[in-house]
Amino acid sequence: MNKIISAVKKIESGNPDKDALLYLFSTNEDIDILFSAAYEVKERYVGKKVYLRGLIEFSNICKKNCYYCGIRRDNHKIKRYSMNKEEILESAIFAYKSGFGSIVLQSGERDDRDFINNLVEVIKEIKSITNNELGITLCVGEEKRDDYEKLFEAGAHRYLLRIETSNEDLYKKIHPEDHSFYNRVECIKMLKNIGYQTGTGVMIGLPFQTIDDLVSDIVFFVENDIDMIGMGPYIEHKDTPLFKYNSKFTLKERFELTLKMIAIMRILMKDINIASTTALQAIDPAGREKGILAGANVIMPNITPLKYREDYRLYENKPCINENSEDCKDCVLNRIKMIGESVALNSLGDPIHYYRRNKES
Ligand code: 5AD
Ligand code: SF4
Ligand code: FES
Repeated sequence: MNKIISAVKKIESGNPDKDALLYLFSTNEDIDILFSAAYEVKERYVGKKVYLRGLIEFSNICKKNCYYCGIRRDNHKIKRYSMNKEEILESAIFAYKSGFGSIVLQSGERDDRDFINNLVEVIKEIKSITNNELGITLCVGEEKRDDYEKLFEAGAHRYLLRIETSNEDLYKKIHPEDHSFYNRVECIKMLKNIGYQTGTGVMIGLPFQTIDDLVSDIVFFVENDIDMIGMGPYIEHKDTPLFKYNSKFTLKERFELTLKMIAIMRILMKDINIASTTALQAIDPAGREKGILAGANVIMPNITPLKYREDYRLYENKPCINENSEDCKDCVLNRIKMIGESVALNSLGDPIHYYRRNKES
């Protein structure tokens, strides 16, 4: 008990102390001390409320071939789709009318002109039909600086680009040779520099990944002074090359490690936004609520049209494949109420950290 209290105290000082972190990852005894400390920080710094981002998975076409991902280029078993402009606008209006303050536009990675131009158009229209009120987060991968700038000017103000792992060697093991760790880090810096509220994240429990790697991930988040984190357990997909390698961790362990990562990041960085991700829900139906109780403050209900959902299966057991946007909305609202938190409706929910960071620099 004393050991866990002193480990939590150490990270409360804002220092990602390696021994303290290793200790927290190594034990489950009295681990509620960690979660309640994180929840206290959440209440104090970001409130007892949850921000919603409607997630629109607008295309599963991807030029990349990440070894872990179900929509990688070489998976020919899935039907490829791109939602048209009207469909995307309809989903955005659903989010707006439902009081979700923001949406996330997510897709596979492409950098051709059509893709960027269409996205710019869609962003502008969403802004204009929602009175400039709906926040837009992009999650479309590595792009050129010019294109990041164009998308920012069009009205997207947040960007999520997961580093996936901060260990360059591990990054190389889970990606083909033409994927560049260096470029990914550069992109994250560029996004911050352009003025985006910038988020990153990792997968937890990847084959070859160790607890030391998770400690380095934490250091990476702190050193890059990021505004938002979206991270989740790695979950196998049988039609991917990584499937044949085993993770050192069971699904249950990956789930627990993810909750600990959330709690530790809440205590360390206090006023950032942390998402309780769908992959947690894939392992445990109450996974997202547990993420909130461990310190997360954002949930991303899926509002992709039902007919496309089965083709955006990044990993097995992805939830909400047979539910529609209305189902997911009701489900999320009920589940948040059940844990005694409230939903911050009609609010952008910008990370407080972003404003503090810009004031200080
Ligand atoms: N398990 C968990 N997360 C995954 N992602 C992709 N494939 C998997 C998987 N098998 C995550 C990546 C990516 C995000 C969109 O989905 O972290 O950045
Ligand atoms: Fe494409 Fe992203 Fe999947 Fe990699 S993780 S294959 S970039 S959709
Ligand atoms: Fe989709 Fe619960 S969030 S059904």
